[in-house]
Amino acid sequence: MIKLTNASKKYQQGAREVHALKEVSLDIRKGEFLSVMGPSGSGKSTLLNLMGGLDQPSSGEIFIDTRPLHGISDDELTLIRRRRVGFIFQFFNLLPILTAVENVSLPLLLEGTPLSQIKSKAIDLLGQVGLGERIEHRPEQLSGGEMQRVAIARALITSPAVLLADEPTGNLDSHTSEEIFMLLRNLNEEGQTIVMVTHDSRAAAYGTRIITLKDGSLSEDIRLGEH
Ligand SMILES: Nc1ncnc2c1ncn2[C@@H]1O[C@H](COP(=O)(O)OP(=O)(O)OP(=O)(O)O)[C@@H](O)[C@H]1O
Ligand SMILES: [Mg+2]
Repeated sequence: MIKLTNASKKYQQGAREVHALKEVSLDIRKGEFLSVMGPSGSGKSTLLNLMGGLDQPSSGEIFIDTRPLHGISDDELTLIRRRRVGFIFQFFNLLPILTAVENVSLPLLLEGTPLSQIKSKAIDLLGQVGLGERIEHRPEQLSGGEMQRVAIARALITSPAVLLADEPTGNLDSHTSEEIFMLLRNLNEEGQTIVMVTHDSRAAAYGTRIITLKDGSLSEDIRLGEH
């Protein structure tokens, strides 16, 4: 599903070169729910961004569904990012002027698909994340947990090969966080491949496999088996 071979990422910070990711090799299988742990600065977001085509490795190889994410043009990378991966972030990144159903529809609207063809899928997804009654609400009329559910539905509308989540509950209280983790686990049980970055070992345990990064290198890789 996603395969990294000796993927490295170096950033230039002024005169200093930061080796954010060092020769990481990793094979993520279809249907896995991978939790990525590690201290601040260990390279978790860098790894996720490389997997999602938000950034390119300095060296090494990355494949999603056997298609290379390295050494391809920006246009090709943009298409893969739009169609093959779904992102969710700590701060939801919803558009405030759009309703829930419009926010969820947006990735396909940007592709040029007419709203009439998208709306029923967007409504179905909002139902699936427990927001069937909130489809016309704007973000400011929703709680943090509800906003993240909208963001999850939006990430799923293109039927992505993988859902990538960077600290998805970093801005939510513990009860709401647990609800979001349960939702992610349910989506995984229905077959969705997920990669989730988290600081929290309790959150990581919702996954089927936990890797730990240390100074940009893979230091642990534990399979938890099926739930
Ligand atoms: N765009 C960038 N430009 C320069 N340096 C960067 C950039 N992105 C990340 N880095 C550096 O790379 C290293 C890894 O950063 P990364 O954001 O991947 O860590 P992280 O594990 O996600 O940390 P956190 O838990 O704080 O989010 C850090 O030293 C960071 O300063
Ligand atoms: Mg990070």
